[in-house]
Formats: sequence, C-alpha cells, structure tokens
Amino acid sequence: MHVLGIAVISVDGCLARHEESGVSFASAEDQAEFRRAVQECGATVMGRRTFDAVRERILGSKDHSLLRTIVTREPTRYAELAQPGRIEFTSAGPREIVRSLADRGYRSVAILGGAQIYDLFTADALITEWQITVEPRLFGTGTRILSRAADPPLTLVEHRLLNANTLLLRYRVG
Ligand SMILES: NC(=O)c1ccc[n+]([C@@H]2O[C@H](COP(=O)([O-])OP(=O)(O)OC[C@H]3O[C@@H](n4cnc5c(N)ncnc54)[C@H](OP(=O)(O)O)[C@@H]3O)[C@@H](O)[C@H]2O)c1
Repeated sequence: MHVLGIAVISVDGCLARHEESGVSFASAEDQAEFRRAVQECGATVMGRRTFDAVRERILGSKDHSLLRTIVTREPTRYAELAQPGRIEFTSAGPREIVRSLADRGYRSVAILGGAQIYDLFTADALITEWQITVEPRLFGTGTRILSRAADPPLTLVEHRLLNANTLLLRYRVG
C-alpha cells in the first residue's frame, strides 16, 4: 500500500498559522497539486479537527469518487454525516485503517493530517512517502507538522518550484 503523507507548511514547519485553522496561506499552485495527488490516491484519511476546518467543503462536494476517512474517538457522534464509501468516521488505529482500505481494493491512500494524525501514522511507520509544500511564510507559532518525537529516514526523490516562492518536496520514507 502506498501511504502518502501530504502537507503544506511554513518555512518553520507550521501546518496552520498561529491559532487559526485551515490552510488559507497555501498558494493556488499548492492547492492544485494537492487536488491532483488526492485524486490519484482515491482514498484519504484526516483527523476530526482537520475535517472540522473543511467540513462544509467536504459535505458539499459533488465528487463521489473519493473516500474520506475521518479519525475520531467518537464516530457515533458523526453518524448522521456518514455516507458509506464517501465519508466515513472511525476510531480504528492506523494499521487497521490501512488494512481495511487494502481489503477494499485501494492501492494508495493520502494521509491529510493534521499533526495528531501524521503522528499516529508516523509512529506506526506506515507512511511510505511524503509530499510537502513549503510556502514562503514564517509563523513562529502554530500547529507543527508533527507534535511527537519522531525521526523517520527520508530520501529526497523530487524537488520542484510550484511558483517563484513555493517549493514542493517529495521524500521516500526509508
Ligand atoms: N497545512 C496542512 O497541510 C494541514 C493539513 C491538515 C490539517 N491542518 C491544520 O491542522 C489543524 C488540525 O490539526 P490537529 O493536529 O490539531 O488535529 P487533527 O490531527 O486534524 O485531528 C485531531 C483529532 O483526531 C482524533 N484523534 C487523534 N488521535 C486519535 C486516536 N488515537 N484515536 C482516535 N481518534 C484520534 C481526535 O478527534 P476527536 O476529538 O473527535 O476524538 C482528535 O481531536 C487544523 O488547523 C488544520 O486546518 C493543516
């Protein structure tokens, strides 16, 4: 299973600006890359707080081809929003999520964060590749890409400018 961590960060490693949620600091070029990578995967996993930041967009999406799995300790709280095969809520651990997606025929999944979800999948060494966009911003404070100690081995496989100031980095894990 190809497990792709996707994130857009500031130069100082923040996923979000100060106390804000969402990725309004991401460039249009990053968002186009994000959509392309997600469509290629066909399945995504995100934390409940990330879902909350983009809830209206997800619930209003006409795209029925993408499975979005939202990780929460209280999946029953979101039962009314669930649409099997499109929007699913789970309290399963990362290994179980990946196994279940593989059993359903998915060959790749995009892990969309936030930090708590990247932490979980990193702790179980499940992420096989990272696609990280670095935007020309320095926030000083804000949610970091990982919030727990980690040090996975990363091998740079691609680096590309998305515009004059925005850099896309792809790393293989291992
Ligand atoms: N720049 C980027 O690329 C990017 C990407 C993603 C997110 N973000 C931003 O990052 C922020 C959110 O990140 P975050 O780290 O605070 O939250 P998060 O990872 O999106 O979600 C955290 C939630 O996941 C659930 N969770 C965590 N560990 C769990 C476990 N072991 N079992 C079951 N459920 C578990 C909990 O949901 P419950 O509380 O419901 O139990 C927890 O509150 C937002 O501002 C978002 O916009 C940025």
